[in-house]
Amino acid sequence: MYNILEAPFMKEMIDTVSNMYAHGWDERNGGNVSLLLTEEQVRDYRDINSVIRTIDIPFDAYALIGKYFLVTGTGKYFKNVKSNPAGNMGLFRIGKDGKSAELLWGYDDGGRFTSELPAHLMSHIARLSVDPDNRVVMHCHPTNLLAMTYIHDLDEKKFTHTLWEFSTECIVVFPDGVNVLPWMLCGTNEIGEATAEKMKTARLVVWAAHGIYGAGKDLDETFGLIETAEKAAEVYMKCAALPKINTIKDTELKELADFFKVTPREGFLNL
Ligand code: 13P
Ligand code: ZN
Repeated sequence: MYNILEAPFMKEMIDTVSNMYAHGWDERNGGNVSLLLTEEQVRDYRDINSVIRTIDIPFDAYALIGKYFLVTGTGKYFKNVKSNPAGNMGLFRIGKDGKSAELLWGYDDGGRFTSELPAHLMSHIARLSVDPDNRVVMHCHPTNLLAMTYIHDLDEKKFTHTLWEFSTECIVVFPDGVNVLPWMLCGTNEIGEATAEKMKTARLVVWAAHGIYGAGKDLDETFGLIETAEKAAEVYMKCAALPKINTIKDTELKELADFFKVTPREGFLNL
């Protein structure tokens, strides 16, 4: 059995959350990340029959029974993950009843998974139904995307169009666009269900006045997805109060999509 802190997935998770913190996306305990692992990945580092304790899951995660997740802890600060991984994250398997997490490592101080577990696990289910390679759900509070939700129409087509328009790479990185939820109470099954529904048609879901969810096949890709949207939001926020005299035209956005062989979300370009 190898040291789990040496596992490539663990190192990448620690690097990613540290980087998220460094980007200012995760003040205090803001943000949470879940990474789906295979049994083969876990087996090299943990005795999968040695369950430390079980933690109740507040909904029925039957679709994920037997699956393994590395998940940040509730109330934990991303800035502390590197110095104390086992105190700030946990690795668990979804129990046979679909309503318990069988802890195999972490949450060392008696803690538990993020309060946003419903949004994470329900989003994993939704993304896996459209892309079996999906492994990551990431939530954070990027400043400019958050700011944008206070001054921009929350209509998904309009919000997406603005992001596409304010940075050339956006339509290539997220041709599906972004979906948007109005303000809702966080940490609930309801916001989890609403997020998962939105995840069926896009890998980015903005929570108005709160933050964003991203999903992808690995940590790097998911981080890059949010980073790209946040960059466009930053450019938009710098320009929003100024007269706009240039833009990327919809014909040019189409040109980009054709050249990079991506299909923009149906009806989101005005052509
Ligand atoms: P947790 O500390 O429970 O992960 O919550 C942080 C957060 O961002 C809530 O939306
Ligand atoms: Zn949050």
